Amino acid sequence: MKYFTEQASVDIVNERMGVPADDRASVVMSSLVRHLHEFVEDVGLTEAEWDLAIDFLTRTGQISGPERQEFILLSDVLGVSMLVDAINHRRPESATESTVFGPFHVENAPIREMGENISLDGKGEPCLFEGRVSSTDGAPIAGAVVDVWSDNEDGYYDVQQPDIQPRWNNRGRFITGADGKYSFLGIKPTSYPIPDDGPVGQMLTRLGRHPYRPAHMHFLVSADGYERLVTHTFVDGDEYLESDAVFGVKESLIATYDKRDVGAQTIWTSEYDFVLASS
Ligand code: BEZ
Ligand code: FE
Repeated sequence: MKYFTEQASVDIVNERMGVPADDRASVVMSSLVRHLHEFVEDVGLTEAEWDLAIDFLTRTGQISGPERQEFILLSDVLGVSMLVDAINHRRPESATESTVFGPFHVENAPIREMGENISLDGKGEPCLFEGRVSSTDGAPIAGAVVDVWSDNEDGYYDVQQPDIQPRWNNRGRFITGADGKYSFLGIKPTSYPIPDDGPVGQMLTRLGRHPYRPAHMHFLVSADGYERLVTHTFVDGDEYLESDAVFGVKESLIATYDKRDVGAQTIWTSEYDFVLASS
């Protein structure tokens, strides 16, 4: 086969590769070519649709930069991020499940004392988060870093509103002691739309999808000798639990939120234990 034909298109393209068939680049790209060609055939892609796709991808790249990553958002809303997470983190059943990382984590958040308040803008309904970090055999993990972040009452992360919110608002790192316990004060998270003013938002609208994520608290839990856990806890009863724009919800990650008397105040409390898989 020398020249391109519709019938032999996959082989013609893939046979052009100058690396061994078991080379990882060859494995990944030949599969991608096969799926892409099958997709084009399957939908009978028109030239106008091809133009639209090129324009969409061009705009997705143009709106991306150090502060915004529209391609990751695209991966998120297509369920690709969750699938990559799933196939790369097949943990023992007893270990806490992972979910999508999201774009709003910031490295090196302040290390705070147990029980400290991470809500610096004074907005939102106070909520005490507490629980324990343990291994799959139930032993507490000392020295685990519990890195947390959430949106504020208005549904924005501090990094989305650098001129409005205090730096490190609703963020912090907590280091467990011998009992493996963590606790911090934050706010009951609120649901919010993912950034929807770009091509991905336009695509969601075109597909009749909303951009909302159910309310959640982000956790990144790490400890020496254990797999890093990237996860959230979701607010039970949230109206978007079954239609998360990025498919991040897992039943085991839905946490309870109860009103409780803490000191002189009645506030929300949410208890959740994390179980880490050995690395
Ligand atoms: C987040 O939960 O912060 C998030 C995840 C995926 C896309 C956008 C935001
Ligand atoms: Fe989030």
